Amino acid sequence: MTTSFTQEFNWIRLQMPLVQKALEKLPRLDGVRLACSVHLEIKMVQMFEALMERGAELFLTTCNPKTVRDDVIEYLSKKGASTHAWFDMSPADYSSGFERALDWEPTHLCEMGADLTYTLTRNSDRAKNSKIKASLEATGSGITRLGQLTPPYPIFNWDDVPIKEGLHNRHMVGLTAWHAFLSRTGLTLHGKRVSVIGFGLVGRGVADIARAYGGTVSIVEKDVSRSLEAKYGGWEVKTLNEAILESDVIVTATGVSNIIQSEHFPMMKNGVILMNVGHQAREIDTSSLLLHSHREIIPFIREVDLGHKRIYLFAEGSMANLVAGCGDSFNSFDIILAVMISGISHIVGAGSKTSPGVYLLPKAVWEPFVASN
Ligand SMILES: NC(=O)c1ccc[n+]([C@@H]2O[C@H](COP(=O)([O-])OP(=O)(O)OC[C@H]3O[C@@H](n4cnc5c(N)ncnc54)[C@H](O)[C@@H]3O)[C@@H](O)[C@H]2O)c1
Repeated sequence: MTTSFTQEFNWIRLQMPLVQKALEKLPRLDGVRLACSVHLEIKMVQMFEALMERGAELFLTTCNPKTVRDDVIEYLSKKGASTHAWFDMSPADYSSGFERALDWEPTHLCEMGADLTYTLTRNSDRAKNSKIKASLEATGSGITRLGQLTPPYPIFNWDDVPIKEGLHNRHMVGLTAWHAFLSRTGLTLHGKRVSVIGFGLVGRGVADIARAYGGTVSIVEKDVSRSLEAKYGGWEVKTLNEAILESDVIVTATGVSNIIQSEHFPMMKNGVILMNVGHQAREIDTSSLLLHSHREIIPFIREVDLGHKRIYLFAEGSMANLVAGCGDSFNSFDIILAVMISGISHIVGAGSKTSPGVYLLPKAVWEPFVASN
């Protein structure tokens, strides 16, 4: 590996002492075949390396081709992981990664977005014959998706664990998405009207930091109680169409596909910037948008020419904080990754003896892993 990869990796390890402690508590993992569909970024490397050192076999595929680091894949392949992921892989290659991961016959899954479970349950024979004992799911989008599936194994939801929601969703996404926005565009939000669509924990963090960066911020939220909460918090609450008409920057944070649709593009202001922080890259209908003539004018900014106006798409409509930025700070991710490691300890142990269904990762599982923070 290059010196810079090693130096970056060593620096990250130094900043994540809680993860080191959590890794020391991992049991032996001989016989565990763990298939992962996750963001394959450098902060995850220390965990994967330790899992293999404990005897686990790994199959790594991604939940987002735009967040894969090829040097991470190269490093982990050399250490013995099976991989099917590379930066910006095509949609067909991306989907075939889920098939390949399941053909590899995993005993456990670690997911961000439930793609492996979705792929498995579409084929009833494969689901019936699966050797999977338990799974771990990290995202709100994945948990929503699992609500429509009947997986034949227990799945532990750690997205809704308070420490993950409270730190990562609430504070880190907004901070790091706007940091990426400023560093890539050279713009703050002073004098700009910003609309945040979705007032979950992620949307709240995005709205707070947009205000700190100088924006005049409005909220669009379809849930009545959340929209009232936004009003009580002093935010202007708008309908989607009102927001579309007047915004200079629009951010989606819902976890739902096609929030911004083709009919909205002609209504937008000339020069509007569109950004997404939701898990899927489909919150903005980029397929319709990119039917118009377009070009990348600077890295991470695509200019779309609608003839009478221009629309700017940030980070291809994929998760701005991870695709155009560095994701969570190392000190914050230290806690989040320690929770994830506790989840892996659980699914290879007591968790695998639970009946099929979706469960919140118990507090007794993750609390000791982060207690020394
Ligand atoms: N970028 C990241 O690193 C990161 C980190 C954590 C979570 N996420 C993702 O961000 C998304 C939001 O997460 P969350 O925890 O805030 O979820 P959440 O479900 O609590 O909040 C989403 C909000 O969007 C609202 N919404 C849905 N459809 C809407 C519509 N058509 N118009 C207006 N509002 C609508 C919902 O009512 C809800 O209040 C999810 O996809 C999640 O997976 C991303």
